[in-house]
Amino acid sequence: MEVPVSDLSSSGLRVDLREAICCLTEALNLVGVDERQHGERVACMATETARVLGWDAARLSDLFHASLLHDCGVSSTRVHTKLVSELDWAGSERHCKIGAAYLRSFRPLAHLAPVIRWHHTHWDALSGNAEVDADTARMSNLIYLVDRADALLAQYRAGGDQAAFDRIRDKLAGLSGRFFAPELVEAFMACSRGEAFWLALDPLDVAEYVAHFDNPEPPRIEDDRDLHDLARIFAHIVDAKSPYTYEHSRGVARLAVRLARRDGLPEARVSQVEIAGLLHDLGKLGVPDEILESSAPLDHDSRAIMHRHSYDTFRILHRIHGMEEIADWAGCHHETLIGDGYPFQYGAGQLSREARIIAVADVFQALAQDRPYRKGMAPAEVLAILERMRDDGKLDGEVVAMVAGDMEGCYEAAMPKEGNGLPWGGAE
Ligand SMILES: [Fe+2]
Ligand SMILES: [Fe+2]
Ligand SMILES: [Fe+2]
Repeated sequence: MEVPVSDLSSSGLRVDLREAICCLTEALNLVGVDERQHGERVACMATETARVLGWDAARLSDLFHASLLHDCGVSSTRVHTKLVSELDWAGSERHCKIGAAYLRSFRPLAHLAPVIRWHHTHWDALSGNAEVDADTARMSNLIYLVDRADALLAQYRAGGDQAAFDRIRDKLAGLSGRFFAPELVEAFMACSRGEAFWLALDPLDVAEYVAHFDNPEPPRIEDDRDLHDLARIFAHIVDAKSPYTYEHSRGVARLAVRLARRDGLPEARVSQVEIAGLLHDLGKLGVPDEILESSAPLDHDSRAIMHRHSYDTFRILHRIHGMEEIADWAGCHHETLIGDGYPFQYGAGQLSREARIIAVADVFQALAQDRPYRKGMAPAEVLAILERMRDDGKLDGEVVAMVAGDMEGCYEAAMPKEGNGLPWGGAE
């Protein structure tokens, strides 16, 4: 019987959770396309405001992580644009529910799910909500307040006003008591008075702020399952970009696990292959929806944007200490044995067995699933294409032979699982 992927034995990885969260937040930043680092700026403004309020270290740590991840329910570049270009958008509730559902499935930060859930709810509704305790309400509302500060900053900048700091402050002050808790607005006004507060939101400063955030109580990964859960959440976020990528990353991970086991890799290795499969398309978060969903062949520019996703995956994962090898395998899923793939144009000599497995699993899953421009293919068609790609020197012959010897099992592993998708209603 096949072992469920969540019951894999230890991957043997030693990863700092705080570093993993900060790096993976970079992937969320990609969703902003031209408006990146939103999560970081929110974390910076929220924690500085909370310091004025005298919050203790544990609460600051929670606020910092909730701020970084507050928009993890947004995979779509269109939704992200709406959220930053409108002050109060009726559709904003959905990403709060999705983000909260993600966080609930990650033990080290599950207690922050309610904070994410209410981060677009007006204070006059939130403060009277018996479901929400006072601390959660305040933390959520603080994130909402600085989130809107960042949205206004983007709006004024788009209109050519680079220093609309006082206008932003006036606007937010005018919403005190209605949108935001008066005590939070007061603290925000105190700490955002000088222009240094705003200038510190520039890309390099804010990256430094997040990297050096002094956190005496960082969340810790207690066992291997936490890391897999975190990887699975990011796979959900990537797959939620489009109905056509629904469960793609998870299908690739399942199939790669199956192939790695058939290949006789040790279980710790198999477990790492699963993480690489789950995260291989992380960089796709930066691909605008209209390119990902295009049913026409991509032009030169769109193809260049699409192609950079595997490099972005590599770059982000490589920064997590302990995950360098996984970054290599995941980042090479579009490389070929004859060296005409991307982004490195590596050849057979540089592609590990694990990378070759991920590459085959990626092509297999993509062919088996419906795409905007064609229906999903039957097993025989999938195999014929894999064999053609092997003959052309693109895919590894031994891995393709493993697929051929286990076609039914591979197809079953790769296909989306009914009822195993997004309980909160599919892609945006
Ligand atoms: Fe936001
Ligand atoms: Fe890809
Ligand atoms: Fe993929």
